[in-house]
Amino acid sequence: MSSTCKVVSFVSASGGVGKTTLAIFLAKWLVEKRLVSPLKLLILDLDPTAGLSLSLMDEDKYDDSLTKGSTLVNLYRDYNKGLITRKISDYVTPVKHGGVELNILPPGEDLEQIVEELWNTGRPGPEFRELLEKSGAYNLYDFIIIDSAPFFDVRYTVLSIYAATRYVVVLRPSIVDSRRTARMLRRLMKYAKDFGLSTPDYMARFLGVINLAKSGTIEADALLNLNFVGVKPARGYNPLKHPSDERRKNLEKSIEGLRKVINFSNYVLPLNADISRLEFKEIIKGGKSDDDLKNTTENLLKDIWSHATCQKSIT
Ligand SMILES: Nc1ncnc2c1ncn2[C@@H]1O[C@H](COP(=O)(O)OP(=O)(O)OP(=O)(O)O)[C@@H](O)[C@H]1O
Ligand SMILES: [Mg+2]
Repeated sequence: MSSTCKVVSFVSASGGVGKTTLAIFLAKWLVEKRLVSPLKLLILDLDPTAGLSLSLMDEDKYDDSLTKGSTLVNLYRDYNKGLITRKISDYVTPVKHGGVELNILPPGEDLEQIVEELWNTGRPGPEFRELLEKSGAYNLYDFIIIDSAPFFDVRYTVLSIYAATRYVVVLRPSIVDSRRTARMLRRLMKYAKDFGLSTPDYMARFLGVINLAKSGTIEADALLNLNFVGVKPARGYNPLKHPSDERRKNLEKSIEGLRKVINFSNYVLPLNADISRLEFKEIIKGGKSDDDLKNTTENLLKDIWSHATCQKSIT
């Protein structure tokens, strides 16, 4: 695996679209499929509200990581003090969730403050990347997953863009979400030159993923019309009939607009209670009624893995 193709961050223009859920699913899938050894997989929680850490760690474990100073904030502070003998792995907390072992670096209580400090240096992205580099993140781990906060605070997205080399952009199938996503991508385009990339090469680092698609709705029909897989149509859906519904037409147009800017996975995750409960094992087991969900989830994760590791596709 090329060293530049092993760090993926999950970003989004809107909140609550499923970044954390997908980051956890990807981590569990990689471990279960033995694509990455659990010790060689790092999950970095770059969200000041610690959504991922709180989903995977119980109260005691989370408090323990704060007390022990096993957080990103502590790593940053120690490195600023010149304590560079410690490695990022010394700050990581191993967690067992649903039978899968995962290594997490929680953000810590004052992530906002260190983000502020990074911004005051005038070169936050490169500084953050250097911190990860110096603390051994890119050497010690075969694969790194970064979960970030949504784009209403641009800074977390920007840091995760600098720290990673591939980005998964998660959105709901709604006109507002796709318009917000288009605006976010436009604003992120300016970083292409910092990576020495042309705009198309830089945009190729992004993969769009649609989550929370409700079967049997106009949104589902719009997605099916655009050849996405994973949801069921509304009653009376006819792919050959031109959409007469204004909302469906507009949604198709805005998603198509996005597809001109970045690539998308063809697999969309439906709104599903097992997904919200992080019942990854249950989903992957499948069963008569849930084979569709199993296939969609696995195919989507394969797409993300291929994208993140710069492979054309995996079987
Ligand atoms: N496909 C899905 N079906 C049902 N519920 C889902 C699905 N995906 C995510 N959820 C639920 O939606 C909520 C938001 O998901 P999640 O926390 O993963 O989003 P997020 O993008 O990380 O949010 P934030 O921007 O706040 O960090 C959670 O309650 C999660 O369980
Ligand atoms: Mg989250």
